[in-house]
Amino acid sequence: MSADQATPREEPEDLVHQRAELVEEEARLQHEAPSEGASRAARALADVAAEPGVPKPDPILVVEDLTRSFGGVKAVQVDHVEVQRGTITAVIGPNGAGKSTFFNLVTGFDRPDSGRWRFDGADITGRPAYRIAGSGMVRTFQLTKALMRLTTLENVMLGATGQRGERLLTAPLRFLWRGQEDQVRQRADALLERFRLTHMRDEFAGTMSGGQRKLLEMARALMVRPSLVMLDEPMAGVNPALTQSLLGHIQGLRDEGTTVVLVEHDMDVIMAISDWIVVMAEGRVIAEGRPDDIRRNKAVIDAYLGTRRELKEDDGEH
Ligand SMILES: Nc1ncnc2c1ncn2[C@@H]1O[C@H](COP(=O)(O)OP(=O)(O)OP(=O)(O)O)[C@@H](O)[C@H]1O
Ligand SMILES: [Mg+2]
Repeated sequence: MSADQATPREEPEDLVHQRAELVEEEARLQHEAPSEGASRAARALADVAAEPGVPKPDPILVVEDLTRSFGGVKAVQVDHVEVQRGTITAVIGPNGAGKSTFFNLVTGFDRPDSGRWRFDGADITGRPAYRIAGSGMVRTFQLTKALMRLTTLENVMLGATGQRGERLLTAPLRFLWRGQEDQVRQRADALLERFRLTHMRDEFAGTMSGGQRKLLEMARALMVRPSLVMLDEPMAGVNPALTQSLLGHIQGLRDEGTTVVLVEHDMDVIMAISDWIVVMAEGRVIAEGRPDDIRRNKAVIDAYLGTRRELKEDDGEH
């Protein structure tokens, strides 16, 4: 009798063992295989050249001739950049490269000296932040802006009004929803659950850890069901366990079709989760491409040389 004909009854322990190994291997492979969202993004970007300013097949955000100076410092001078819909696009670059300023400008939190930008086909140049948020583009901040004396739930519910800023504190909350408070609360509760913050629901945001506040900000940003979220260093100051779950949330957003633009200094994180990377230095886009293109890019290596120590020292401090 050949080995092929052996029945499980003959060597039950071996077979059980082998099966367990196979199941483990399968789980490992599944874990490592790119998600459907990642594969979709890779296919969409497959023919895009790794060059600064390169057009994308289906851009959700198109920025042209955007400039902003502070005194003599040209913080942003971006000739042209496009963000492909449905991708995780990372914006990287040394400290002071203009990443946060770029975010501020396109989301309406700061005004450029010049430039135009289109979101989802509509010219939204010069619109205030809450209107841009209302049309589907929201951001989170490098330094979290949780309102410490509101509860976690109230903080998330505030997201429903778009990003109107802290002026809101002066308005009684119940007037903000115009009779839609129940719906708003239900969505906020669902988001708290998604980010595993339900146990903090009725606590003041001031009692949360830094990492929990980052999650709170993401939950708040998602209240308006955005099609594009811009995350400015969402992982900074977050402990490693929470970092993993934040990464999972970011990939989850992309997998369900939301476009994510992300500023992050941790290169391992960037290389692991980005579908596309835009590199800024001294206000300009100096390189673009897939993680593998960026790893080999001379301009990128040059831009980072000498700043490596700064990057390391700055990690976790924002
Ligand atoms: N409000 C401001 N007033 C004056 N200068 C500013 C202001 N905001 C930014 N800058 C300057 O503009 C440049 C770009 O700053 P920005 O914060 O956009 O950089 P960044 O790429 O986000 O850096 P980091 O990685 O350190 O967060 C820097 O030289 C910074 O000092
Ligand atoms: Mg910044």
